[in-house]
Amino acid sequence: MLKSPAPETREASHLFYLSSVRRPLIDRAEGIYMWTQDGRRFIDGSSGPMVANIGHSNRNVLDAMKRQMDRATFAYRLHFENEPAEELARQLAAKLPEGMDRIFFVSGGSEAIESCIKLARQWAVATGQPSRWKVISRFPSYHGGTLGALAVTGDDALSETFVPMMQMMPTVPAPIAWRDRDNLSMEQRGIRYADMLEEKILAEGAQSVLAFIMEPVGGAATAALVAPDSYYPRIREICDRYGILLIHDEVMSGAGRTGKFLGGDHWNCKPDIVALSKGLGSGYAPLGALAAPMRLVQPLLASGGFQHGHTYAGNPLACAAGLAVLGEMDRLGLIANAAVMGELLMDELKGLAKRFPFIADVRGKGLLTGAEMVADPETLRPIEPAKKATQHLLDLAYERGLIIYGRKVKGGVDGDNFMVAPPMIVTAAQIGEIISIIGDSLEVLAGELDLAVEG
Ligand SMILES: Cc1ncc(COP(=O)(O)O)c(C=O)c1O
Repeated sequence: MLKSPAPETREASHLFYLSSVRRPLIDRAEGIYMWTQDGRRFIDGSSGPMVANIGHSNRNVLDAMKRQMDRATFAYRLHFENEPAEELARQLAAKLPEGMDRIFFVSGGSEAIESCIKLARQWAVATGQPSRWKVISRFPSYHGGTLGALAVTGDDALSETFVPMMQMMPTVPAPIAWRDRDNLSMEQRGIRYADMLEEKILAEGAQSVLAFIMEPVGGAATAALVAPDSYYPRIREICDRYGILLIHDEVMSGAGRTGKFLGGDHWNCKPDIVALSKGLGSGYAPLGALAAPMRLVQPLLASGGFQHGHTYAGNPLACAAGLAVLGEMDRLGLIANAAVMGELLMDELKGLAKRFPFIADVRGKGLLTGAEMVADPETLRPIEPAKKATQHLLDLAYERGLIIYGRKVKGGVDGDNFMVAPPMIVTAAQIGEIISIIGDSLEVLAGELDLAVEG
């Protein structure tokens, strides 16, 4: 499908993780644009996998990293403390909900999730609740590729092969309320989905349940799914009722992307533990973090410390990058820009949905947006999986110089969507450019797959 003749002439790669379709070699990147060695320009309409939040090649971040590189690139946290880690933790705590002021750094999203789960478990053991070990998650969801994170990931296609090696965790349906055909209001549906958590807790035995993990604004598994407002406080209530920890996976939705520092801030959520990554390092360095209140951390420390850690955790270079990223986010007002540009983007996507009725839903918050495509907008019948609509659309946009993101929903089996999540520095004119290319790509897709277009 993808027409990129130049890369195919290259020698076979030793990198076995590459897809069968070769991609052009990156030359340089700046702002929302990326250029390849064969001279093509791409708009990074998804910030990679929602990583490059502040845009590429930000001069102040590069300078801060260079200054740190000239001093020390690595200092192991068991041997030395370092100022960038201290300062980043301090600034991060100030941006998080009150009391979420104990920070544990890692190098990526999966590591952050592993850390959240292990912190929760160790807290339970340290506080005399060793029967609690189950972490309920949502289906579909994505929490990472390592075995612990995969065990709470609701995606059969990803986990199937590894199931015998893991302790798979219970799931409840993700609140895909827009699909429901009943007489309930959206807010009533929100309560109903939250109450499914309570039913699951009771079915599993409340004393065996340790935590509930969710993405406040969905990521790739649900293409920016947003639950009805009523869902969020009800989930908190239920977790409190049964002494269950609420973990928010903000790996994709955090660090300002949705127009607030955390996705959960839109509902004033007070999770017990938060995982961050992606936008925190913004692609300048591998960086992630867990944040928790002292009341969870103290019992662990009193019982001998957190039995967990990764070699690169809190290294000075990654933390210097993270610190400079937060600085640029504040200096340039990027969170406010994400809110304003996000509204514009959402309006434009809704415009596309009118033009292309096979787009059945447009959703998201700020600059984390998604759109779902179906064969029949009345019945919501999915597009035949063999047509590979998502991949085809991504390829059509790529050929036209735009990178957007998409994965099958419903556990990776069927359901087609695409996500648009440009860097938070995006301008109105650039959103216009992005929408125009998506429109052209959808036009071709509709013709080739025989999908409905407005008459
Ligand atoms: C919500 C969420 N959690 C966790 C992860 C895992 O992050 P990583 O790929 O950095 O390990 C991802 C990655 O896409 C994610 O979107």
